[in-house]
Amino acid sequence: MILNDRQALEILTWYHCAGVDEAVSDYSTDFFAKNEASTATAKAAKATPPVKAPLGHKPGAPARAPQASSVLEAGETANDARSLAQSAKTLDDLKAALERFDGCGLKATATNLVFGDGAADARIMFIGKAPGSDEDIQGLPFVGRSGQLLDKMLAAIGLNRQNAYIANVIPWRPPGNRTPTTHETAVCRPFIDRQIELVCPEVIVFLGGVSAKEMLGTATGIKRLRGKWTKFKGKDADYPALPTLHPAFLLRQPAQKRLAWNDLRMIRQFLDGKK
Ligand code: URA
Repeated sequence: MILNDRQALEILTWYHCAGVDEAVSDYSTDFFAKNEASTATAKAAKATPPVKAPLGHKPGAPARAPQASSVLEAGETANDARSLAQSAKTLDDLKAALERFDGCGLKATATNLVFGDGAADARIMFIGKAPGSDEDIQGLPFVGRSGQLLDKMLAAIGLNRQNAYIANVIPWRPPGNRTPTTHETAVCRPFIDRQIELVCPEVIVFLGGVSAKEMLGTATGIKRLRGKWTKFKGKDADYPALPTLHPAFLLRQPAQKRLAWNDLRMIRQFLDGKK
């Protein structure tokens, strides 16, 4: 059905009154449709992925033809992202490269790039999932309610933003704080990998299941991963890594802070050379 301007405005106003104030995906999903119909919709969406400006695309130049599947497109964009990320020699270069990068749709809906915060030569790096709305507004990771709790957790073991480094797997806020899609994660991954290489910490702490599962390449849940030392395999080096509970989860379930405290003590012992 083609809507005229007045009808489109009425529908948008209706959505807005119902509390819908952002688009959470590139495609619309009919959650009432039966399986067959929704599969057909999903297939159609895959067959015609949105054309994204390829790297180095000049305004006015013809866009690259859409690929046959969005999976192929993600792979290609991730390769572009990898070359761009690897060419960065410093954290400032990497931040500038991300600012130029148009391969992730989240950039279009975000207010700011949320790159990282803390000491570039930190011994320890904390990696969360993705920025929320406070982070999106300020352009800094973990500055909202969960960030305030993270600051207290760091302080409890003698750490702060002058001696630790904080970043996220995804540097732009997913609308409505939804979990990033596999496509978004795949295209952003080379940047966080490079950020780790450039900070080159002695130890990495993954905050929450999304970060731990993506970075460690596992399907195991955070409750089983947390509190156990593991290795993050970088391109040229392995890094000791400890997954722990996400501060946002601890705000929802304060009784679990006891487990997080155990993990924090393990981190302190590691930094004190007692692991
Ligand atoms: N949650 C995250 O995972 N990262 C942030 O920066 C803020 C909240």
